[in-house]
Amino acid sequence: MSKKWKVCLVMVVGLLAVLTVLAALVMIARAAAFSQVQSATAEARQSERDSPAKESAQPEQAPEPLSEEEERFKALRLDMVAEQIAKDEIGRRPVKDRRVLAAMRKVPRHEFVLPRYLGAAYADTPLPIGLGQTISQPYIVAFMTELLKPKPEHKVLEIGTGSGYQAAVLAELVKEVYTIEIYKQLGDRAKKRLEDLKYKKIKCKVADGYFGWQEHAPFDAIIVTCAADHIPPPLIKQLKPGGRMCIPVGNVALTQQLFLVEKNEDGSVRSKSVLPVRFVPLIRKAE
Ligand SMILES: C[S@@+](CC[C@H](N)C(=O)[O-])C[C@H]1O[C@@H](n2cnc3c(N)ncnc32)[C@H](O)[C@@H]1O
Repeated sequence: MSKKWKVCLVMVVGLLAVLTVLAALVMIARAAAFSQVQSATAEARQSERDSPAKESAQPEQAPEPLSEEEERFKALRLDMVAEQIAKDEIGRRPVKDRRVLAAMRKVPRHEFVLPRYLGAAYADTPLPIGLGQTISQPYIVAFMTELLKPKPEHKVLEIGTGSGYQAAVLAELVKEVYTIEIYKQLGDRAKKRLEDLKYKKIKCKVADGYFGWQEHAPFDAIIVTCAADHIPPPLIKQLKPGGRMCIPVGNVALTQQLFLVEKNEDGSVRSKSVLPVRFVPLIRKAE
């Protein structure tokens, strides 16, 4: 073999050796990268098992056990609904709407009464809340609520926040509750109480409820918890077609009539009296 061919052979062998070494290096690097990805994936899966992603469903936490006092109030609430609201034989039209009855069983009425009336919180009577005003009798709250035919998607306006109890019952049943109180002291106290009890769907305002709450109108339902001598035209205007309003109307010194006002789809209105009642008056200016 000539010297020239020998040099050529050595160069080819050398080149082949370099290529083999390079190929081996590439394979080693790829194997190392693959094993890194695998262990990272395994770590991620493990950590997902240890602490599930925020979006995944969390198991429901067991409710806090009720204190002895809360258990006692709960038992009184169940009796209140059974004996005063849902019962058929006491000369009253029983309230039948299951959602309304469930709301009445749930809302802690004792949180809405003045401390000196705590013992009577679940009694079959209205109670004073200060400034000559009252928290309505449980049966009347349930009866008026049922009249509204509340649905989960509804927006409801209440005139006469008082203690905030009726608003809380409504909040268990509908999407949004707007409530207006004319006395600042009562309105502020109810707002704070509802916030403390975490009723986030309720918006409170201190104003003359005669004019309704135009900014949030129209409403699926309106409930007036003070007696007017006529049905305020702004409230009729702010009721949705197909909507329902209940309002006590009549002379404050005498028994009033609870009226159910229905707005038809064409905007016309019909009203009928459904129950004799006694409410504090709708006033136009807080003293
Ligand atoms: C029977 S109490 C209401 C009870 C209340 N819904 C509750 O659950 O405690 C009637 C309330 O209507 C309020 N009120 C009277 N006239 C009003 C008016 N023009 N606008 C708003 N609230 C009024 C009174 O101050 C009183 O708090």
